[in-house]
Amino acid sequence: MFDNFPLWPDRASAAAGNVDALFIFLLIVSGLMSLLIFSALLYFAARYRHRRGVLAEQIEGSTPLELTWSVVPFMVFMVIFVWGAVVFFKSRTPPRDSTEVYVVAKQWMWKLEHSEGQREINELHVPVGRDVKLIMTSQDVIHSFFIPAFRMKQDVLPGRYTLAWFRATKPGTYHLFCAEYCGTQHSGMIGSIIVMEPAQFEAWMSGSPAGPLSASGEKIFAELGCVTCHRADTPGRGPNLEGIFGKPVQLEDGRTITADENYIRESILDPGSKVVSGFKPVMPTFQGLVSEEQLNALVAYVKSLSQPVATSTRTAAATQQDNSRAAGSQVQ
Ligand code: CUA
Repeated sequence: MFDNFPLWPDRASAAAGNVDALFIFLLIVSGLMSLLIFSALLYFAARYRHRRGVLAEQIEGSTPLELTWSVVPFMVFMVIFVWGAVVFFKSRTPPRDSTEVYVVAKQWMWKLEHSEGQREINELHVPVGRDVKLIMTSQDVIHSFFIPAFRMKQDVLPGRYTLAWFRATKPGTYHLFCAEYCGTQHSGMIGSIIVMEPAQFEAWMSGSPAGPLSASGEKIFAELGCVTCHRADTPGRGPNLEGIFGKPVQLEDGRTITADENYIRESILDPGSKVVSGFKPVMPTFQGLVSEEQLNALVAYVKSLSQPVATSTRTAAATQQDNSRAAGSQVQ
């Protein structure tokens, strides 16, 4: 239905149908209500028009009538609320096992990095039918990542990560817009989402020699000397990062929080703000020392420490880590 109706953009994601159904429902309810109100308006205007010798009478209230016009709209609003909440939570919660893409917005372009290592600018290639989670941040001002055909829009803020996800359902090329006024070239901050068949996508992916993002992260982790304190073999001055991602962390001040992307990011840039229970706030800040891209790589690396060791890249990376650990301790 409405597939060729020019009022709606292409419908190319798993969420698009749900969003449209809710939107159409709201349109119909609003339309019916407007019709009801305007009909009553016209009817009463005619029925009670001014006539010579006829005077207005006081009308007493009617409980059944008042109950009806309170309860019926209440039910309608509850339907809209529950339906809207379901659609909202679904679109806010990236499924587990989503493919991850890191997005860095800046005046005026989109930089995208697949966790497998491919980098793109103003273009994002994704396969049909796979859940894609976007981990987004901005280098300067607020932008907003908007793909009309996916019915997906999320503000992208400086200084923190915001998340979004989609599952493309139809191969094709779709618009990517910036939907938050961000300066002179805001209207030029556009791009394309290229949805490919899985086989075609695999071919595209293998066209790039870049290693996985977590491997770059591991290199940075070693270069910055993080390995000297965050050790997996012996207790170091910092917590062991193996297996922490997505798990609750007990803090020094008694709070418990989940180690998500934003927590890792904050721990790198502002280490003193949430110190893990049992550790001292001795870690220096890396604010200004790492770029957004490097931060993303570090986050991807810490995340990879919580994934089952299965891939050969992880094994190679682990060996490299041991080597850099040895190098690091010599420097110490
Ligand atoms: Cu970026 Cu508008």
